[in-house]
Amino acid sequence: MNVTAASARAASTRAVVLIVDDEPDLLELVSLTLSRMNLETRTAPDVNTARRLLKSEQFDLCLTDMRLPDGDGLDLVAWIQENRNDLPVAVITAHGNVESAVRALKLGAFDFVSKPLDLGVLRKLVGSAIRLGERAEIDSATANIRGPSLIGSSQAMSQLREMIARVARSQAPVHIYGESGTGKELVARLVHASGSRRDGPFVAVNCGAIPTELMESELFGHKRGSFTGAVADKKGLVQSAEGGTLFLDEVADLPLHMQVKLLRVVQEKTVRPVGESREETVDVRILSATHKNLADLVAEGRFREDLFYRINVIELRVPCLRERTSDIPELSETILGRLGKRMNIEVPAISEDAYQMLREYPFPGNVRELENVLERALTLCATGLITAEHVKLRAVLRPPSEGATPASAPASPTNDSGVPAGLGAQLEDIERDAIVKALEKTRYNKTAAAKLLGMSFRALRYRIKKLGIE
Ligand SMILES: Nc1ncnc2c1ncn2[C@@H]1O[C@H](COP(=O)(O)OP(=O)(O)OP(=O)(O)O)[C@@H](O)[C@H]1O
Ligand SMILES: [Mg+2]
Repeated sequence: MNVTAASARAASTRAVVLIVDDEPDLLELVSLTLSRMNLETRTAPDVNTARRLLKSEQFDLCLTDMRLPDGDGLDLVAWIQENRNDLPVAVITAHGNVESAVRALKLGAFDFVSKPLDLGVLRKLVGSAIRLGERAEIDSATANIRGPSLIGSSQAMSQLREMIARVARSQAPVHIYGESGTGKELVARLVHASGSRRDGPFVAVNCGAIPTELMESELFGHKRGSFTGAVADKKGLVQSAEGGTLFLDEVADLPLHMQVKLLRVVQEKTVRPVGESREETVDVRILSATHKNLADLVAEGRFREDLFYRINVIELRVPCLRERTSDIPELSETILGRLGKRMNIEVPAISEDAYQMLREYPFPGNVRELENVLERALTLCATGLITAEHVKLRAVLRPPSEGATPASAPASPTNDSGVPAGLGAQLEDIERDAIVKALEKTRYNKTAAAKLLGMSFRALRYRIKKLGIE
């Protein structure tokens, strides 16, 4: 089934796949399968031959076995990342050897397929890899990420954008984490829209919103008559993401028995609808998100470690708004613009004192809370200017005794930087102390105290109110 280098080059319209394996039977099977997909194939029995071919010829995809006579498939993956990093590479792993699949994905392999080969799975993998190659050419010519826009020029946001562009090229599962309202779903949509699956569906499933007893049939579908009320065959959400992306939002809320079933989707790329005896292969990329700390849940036995390990191959952390206050003006303008358009009104400007307040507020609800605050301000403001008076901040309105740490209110026990819960309270104590001392020193002259503390008068007034000092 080998073709000569000359004919591979001559048939430039056909994609060329390099298959690296030392088992002749497997080479034959894969070559045959791919040639039926109208692809050219080249084969190599070991790492050295593969490297030589990769140096001298053009390929669109490399498929490699893990255990080779003169080395490891992982070494080849690493070599390709260094020397031919625009070439998608996928690994063929021994059945059940998830460790090496995960290692390959972390090294930059775009996907894996396990032995014994399921030809349906193989065809889907190769199909999306070839599309990936076509996309890479288009993408390098245009911007690297696409889809809904992610506002913010802070360093944290630029890094996030870079990460999104990088993970979009892979098929590996990505786990997105961050406090609530930081934009996790937006990030998931961007990963989908920037990758080879963008023409396929993006199916978001809120794992916390589906009743437990319906979950299996919602996710995997059911056969008619499989239970009372199953009057017709029903397609599962997993199958409806075929060729695209399945986004498991609030994945921490997935009940344990469903976690086992999901494992099969991630690991074997198969699903079995309720009441169906056979499994179906599916081609979906799995993205997941939660504002909870999954590692903690694993430690508490509430989330399966094996599933955690597989959906968490790549982690994307979405920074909270407190860490990127410099993005507040840009975000505010965009949000107000959007609201103005929706409400069909002239968009007011935002005064400096209002901005000051927004910058100092901890935003436990992050960008979503900023959206709410601005929507309220827009309603309250009758003139063309939003001032501090129009900015009603939730955490300030709450009496200080009831939850001294607004920042930690709806958030997880540890925040994103791994800072233990309660730090907010400690910081507030330090702050309260400093303010009281400055006030005492200046005989309760707020202007002088603010100067002493290096903050504006308004900021001090806001903090005094927030900390309940008066
Ligand atoms: N960087 C950003 N640029 C523009 N809009 C953003 C950004 N981040 C978040 N948003 C907006 O904030 C709102 C919340 O975002 P999203 O739903 O993605 O957050 P989330 O992290 O999934 O929240 P939750 O944890 O509550 O599910 C959305 O309206 C989204 O469009
Ligand atoms: Mg969300």
